[in-house]
Amino acid sequence: MRLAFPIMTDMNRWHENTILLGVTGGVAAYKAADLASRWTQRGAVVRVRMTPSACRFVQPLTFEAVTRQPVTTEIWQPLGAHDRPEHIGSGDDADVFVIAPASADHLARLANGFGDDAVCLTVLAWDGPLVICPAMNDRMWKNPAVQANVQLLRERGAHVVEPGVGHLACGSTGPGRLADLDVIDEQVNRILCAGELS
Ligand SMILES: Cc1cc2nc3c(=O)[nH]c(=O)nc-3n(C[C@H](O)[C@H](O)[C@H](O)COP(=O)(O)O)c2cc1C
Repeated sequence: MRLAFPIMTDMNRWHENTILLGVTGGVAAYKAADLASRWTQRGAVVRVRMTPSACRFVQPLTFEAVTRQPVTTEIWQPLGAHDRPEHIGSGDDADVFVIAPASADHLARLANGFGDDAVCLTVLAWDGPLVICPAMNDRMWKNPAVQANVQLLRERGAHVVEPGVGHLACGSTGPGRLADLDVIDEQVNRILCAGELS
C-alpha cells in the first residue's frame, strides 16, 4: 500500500524521539533493520531488543551498525553503573515501542504476560504506546489461538498493524507478510504526533 503523503515531510517529529524496537524470530526480521535505519536517519534514537530466535535470523551487529546503539539480546546483564535493570529503565525516555516482526509465538507470550526474553520482559515494564506488527505463514495467522491473542492485545490497547497479503517466504500466498514498512511508519508517525500534542 502506498501512502498519500510521504512520511519524510514529518522529519521534525522523529528528531530526538526514542523508539524501542523489539525484533522476534521470523523471516521478516531482516526488514526490521530497514525500519531501524530509516528511523535513525530521521534523527530518532532507536534501541533494539531481540529474542534469541530473532538473532538466528539477523545478527544484532546489523542493528548496532544501522542505529549506532547497543542492542539488547539478553536479560541477564551486569547492572554496571545503572541503578535499575535495563528492562525497567528502558521505558523512561522512550516514546513508542514497536515489535516488528511479531512472531506467533511472541504474540502468545505478550498475551500471557511472559517475561523471559529481552522483548517481552521490556514490554511487561512498558506503559506507553505499543505497536505490534505480526508476520507469519498464512495458516499460522488464521489459527484461532493466534487470532485470539491478537484480539486480546488489541483490547488491552496495543496498536496492531495487520500483516499484508501476498507472497510468503514459505512459498504460499495469503495474509501473513509483514505489513508494508510505509504502513508501519505511518502508525508510528501518528503516535509520535499525538505524543507531541499531549
Ligand atoms: C525458517 C523459519 C522461519 C520462521 N518464520 C516464522 C515467521 O515468519 N513467523 C513466525 O511467527 N514464526 C516463524 N518461525 C517460528 C519461530 O521462529 C519460532 O516460533 C520461535 O520460537 C519464535 O521465537 P520468539 O517469538 O521468541 O522470537 C520460523 C521458524 C523457522 C525455522
